[in-house]
Amino acid sequence: MEIVILPTPADVGRYAARLVEARVRARPSLVWGLATGSSPTAIYAELAGAVARGLDLTGVRGFALDEYVGISETHPESYARVIRSQVVEPLGLRPENARVPDGRAADLEQAARDYERAIADAGGIDLQILGIGSNGHIGFNEPTSSFASRTRLKTLAPQTRADNARFFDDPADVPTHCLTQGLGTILESREAVLVAQGEAKARAVAAMVEGPVSAMCPGSVLQFHPRAVVVLDEAAASAL
Ligand code: GLP
Repeated sequence: MEIVILPTPADVGRYAARLVEARVRARPSLVWGLATGSSPTAIYAELAGAVARGLDLTGVRGFALDEYVGISETHPESYARVIRSQVVEPLGLRPENARVPDGRAADLEQAARDYERAIADAGGIDLQILGIGSNGHIGFNEPTSSFASRTRLKTLAPQTRADNARFFDDPADVPTHCLTQGLGTILESREAVLVAQGEAKARAVAAMVEGPVSAMCPGSVLQFHPRAVVVLDEAAASAL
C-alpha cells in the first residue's frame, strides 16, 4: 500500500485526477471503477478540466461500485444519476459505457450476477477509485463482509444510513439495502486508488492502513491489494 499525504482536500483531488489522466493516456480503453459519495467529486471536477484541455475519455468503460436498492433512477441520490451528472456528462464517457448495478431490478440476485459478468466481459477493472466510510466500508461492503465476496445484495449498516442521511430530505428515506461490488471484486482490480479527506475519516483510515486485516474494517483488505494507493489530506491522515 502506497500512502500519499497532501496538505488539502483539493490537493487530493488533483493528485488522483492526474493519476487517472496518466492511465487513460496510456490506455484509452481503460476500464475504470467509479466511486460515488463526496470523496471522489474533486477528482471528477479536476478531470473535467483535463477533458476541456483535450483529454479524451470516449473510449473509457466505467463501472460504478454500488447502487441503492429501491430508489428511482431520477432520485438525486440514485448512483445511476450521480454517475451520469458527475462523470458521464461532464467527462464525455459514452452513456452505454457507464454501468451501474441495477438496484431497481425485479431479481436483484440476477442483477448482481449480470454485473459481475459485465465486468469480466470488459476484461476486469484496470483502475478502481474508492472512498472509505467512517465505519471502514469500501463500496457498500459493511463490516463483516466476506473478503471473497462478489457483487451482491447487502443491508446498509445503521452508521452508513446515518452518515448518508445528509443527502436525503428525511433520514427515514435513506434506503436500507444496496447492490455493491464485493471485496473479492475490488481486490481483482489491477490498481486501486482510495481517497479520503477530513478528520471524520481519520480513524477508519488508521484502521485500514495500520490495523490488522479484519472484516470489521473492510478497507483493510487493501493491504492485500498488489497495487493500492491511498491519497489523504492531512486531516484524514491525522490518526496515522
Ligand atoms: C458511500 C459510498 C461509498 C463511499 C463511502 C464514503 O456511501 N457507497 O462508495 O466511498 O460511502 O462516502 P463519502 O465519500 O461521501 O464520505
